Order: sequence, then C-alpha cells, then structure tokens
Amino acid sequence: MADTLRWLDRRRFVLAAAAAPFVAAIATAACSAAPGAAKRRLPFGAAVRAEQVYGNAAFAAAIDQHCQIIVPEIELNWDKVSPSEGDLNFYQADQLADFATRHGKKMTGHVLVWHLSIPNWAKPGLGQTGGWELVRRYFASVIPRYGTVTDHWDVVNEPLLMGHRQDGLRPSPYLDAFGPSYIARAFHEAHVFAPHAKLSLNEFGTTYDFKEEHDKRYFMLKMLESLKKSGAPIHGVGLQSHLELAKQGSFNPKVLAEFVKEIAGMGYEIRITELDVRESDYTAPADVRDMRVADAVRRYLDVVTASPALTEISCWGLSDAFSWLGVLPEDLAGKQWPAGQGPGLNRGLPFNSDMQPKPMWNVLDAALNV
Ligand code: XIL
Repeated sequence: MADTLRWLDRRRFVLAAAAAPFVAAIATAACSAAPGAAKRRLPFGAAVRAEQVYGNAAFAAAIDQHCQIIVPEIELNWDKVSPSEGDLNFYQADQLADFATRHGKKMTGHVLVWHLSIPNWAKPGLGQTGGWELVRRYFASVIPRYGTVTDHWDVVNEPLLMGHRQDGLRPSPYLDAFGPSYIARAFHEAHVFAPHAKLSLNEFGTTYDFKEEHDKRYFMLKMLESLKKSGAPIHGVGLQSHLELAKQGSFNPKVLAEFVKEIAGMGYEIRITELDVRESDYTAPADVRDMRVADAVRRYLDVVTASPALTEISCWGLSDAFSWLGVLPEDLAGKQWPAGQGPGLNRGLPFNSDMQPKPMWNVLDAALNV
C-alpha cells in the first residue's frame, strides 16, 4: 500500500504537465456542475439479452422507459458470434441492434477482447504465425455491422489479474500469443474499423480497500498511463462495478476517489459499467435487503459521480428476474427461513422481478443528475 501511494505521489508530478489540456477540458466540465449551475443527466444503460427484450414485454417496456444505452450481455462475444470456425451467427446481436434502433437507444459493443469469450476453435491459431488475423477478422465482422447503432466499444475486458506476473497482466491466450502489446494493438485495430466510436478498457475488482484491489488499482493506473503515452486510441475506462455486501466493510471512499481522480487526470472518460450488488445475507426481509443494496450503491455513486469525467452509468441487467448473480450454495449453508419462504433471487439490480423499481433505482435515478 505504501508503495502504491509513493508511486501515485511521483506520478502526480510527472503527469501534471502532460495532462494540462485534459485538465482544462475537465475544469470546463466541472464549471457546468458548479453549485447553482444546471445539472445534466448522465445516460443510463443496462445489459440485456435478446431473448429477454423479445420474450418479456414488461421488461422491454422498462428498458425502453429507463435506458438510453443497451449492452448486449453475451450476443457480441466472439464465441457467440463464431461458435465454430467459418461460422458467423449474428441472429441475436441483430435482434438487439434492431431493438436499440427502433427504440432510439445506443448500443455499447461488449466485448471485443476478453479471455473468456475466445472460441475454442480459435485458441490454438492465435499463437501461430498470422494469429492476429483471426482477431482482425472477428473485429471486421462485428464492428462495421453494428457501426451505426454502436457509438462505444468495450475493446479490452479484464486484462489484469493479481498474483501472476510482475506487470499485473492476466495470463491469457491473448497474452501468450501476442505479448503485452496485444492491449494497445486491439485499440488500434478497433479504431480502424470504428474511427468515430469511443473505445474503452473495462476492468473489475478496483473498488475496495484491501490488498488485491489496491494492487489492481496500481497496475491499472500504470497500464493506463503507458497506453496514453503510447498514443493508443483509448478514450474511456469502464469501472466494472460489481459491488459485494460482504466486502462493504472494506469500502473506503477516499481510496476510491483518489483512484478515480488519477484516471480522470490522465484525460480518460470514466464509465460506471456492470453495476450490480451481490448480497451476503439472504435471510433478512426483502425490504431490509433492498435498503442494504441501495445503501451500498449510494456510497459508491457518491464517490464516482463527483468526478466530472464520469460519462455514463450502466447496470449489468435491469431486473432481478434476469440477474447473472445466482444465490450460491454457500449463501444458503446453515441458514433457515420461515416455512414456505426462501432466499428468493439475488436482489442486486434496480428493478424487482415484477419490473417494479426498488430503492436502488431511486438512488440511481437521483445520482444520474450530476
Ligand atoms: C457474464 C454474463 O452475464 C453471463 O451470463 C455469462 O455466463 C458470463 O459473462 N464481466 C463481464 C461480463 O465483462 O461480460 C460478464 O458477463 C460478467 C463479468
């Protein structure tokens, strides 16, 4: 921790000069949020699956009413688009793009380079001569196809993993095949296909005040600094915001605020992405659980929405009915519920399974006005 702070202090001086134009831009933005000045409304988004918006009218209506952005939950992933070699399947992604277009929404292209979305057939070829061509062809197949409705791409997802390498990079087929430069290369390649789109790097596990997340913040800042220096076309940083009630004791607003400030100081836009809350106590009454979720979200948003660099808030889902967060066996072990009751669903999204807003939505709705 001390090392991280020392490093941050050194960086502050080095960056001060380089960041001058960005600081000026941010200062302008900050002026518009000065006390008494008119507030602006941040765009709000949610991850959805095609089958959800086409299969559940109430859900589709809630998305239509509340979201300006939709994020394909899995539809654009490489292994979904190309499950076998030579096979391209755009059916579900087209459905989502069509939904977005008809409802006047923008789509965020999630996700181009992610270790978990490489199709099995492509893995051996990545490391062979000309392996990048596989990546390039996938980019060529999706980026122009959705270029009108998609003004923002998550180009690289989750490139960091602590405890493996000196540089904090995650061991992955991309790293094995192309070395650390795969990250910058992916941004350059995406920029060729979408010269006008915003391009982001998206990462999780940078929220809480314990060693692993401290280290991740440190390596993230180092990586962002070197990407910026190398001139990679990267505009935004997506802070995956998978909050966990079991970790709330380690929530430290100052530490998070410092991290956000460092990212903004380098001139990056900041996006809150994949916001949701994993509960830890499923035995409490639903209204108590909902308040705990909302409180965690409020504490988090209070910090990040204070940054003028914040451009968007997106949740990983909108309704608990479709949350990817299941209740785990360890959450249930040794716990008891009154007869006929049980834990129900994880309640970490803004709308309940009947598409009714919960306290988390009230917190979000207010926080979107910055
Ligand atoms: C998740 C989906 O929600 C799941 O349905 C899928 O099985 C695995 O991927 N970080 C990301 C998302 O960037 O793409 C992940 O989505 C959740 C974690």
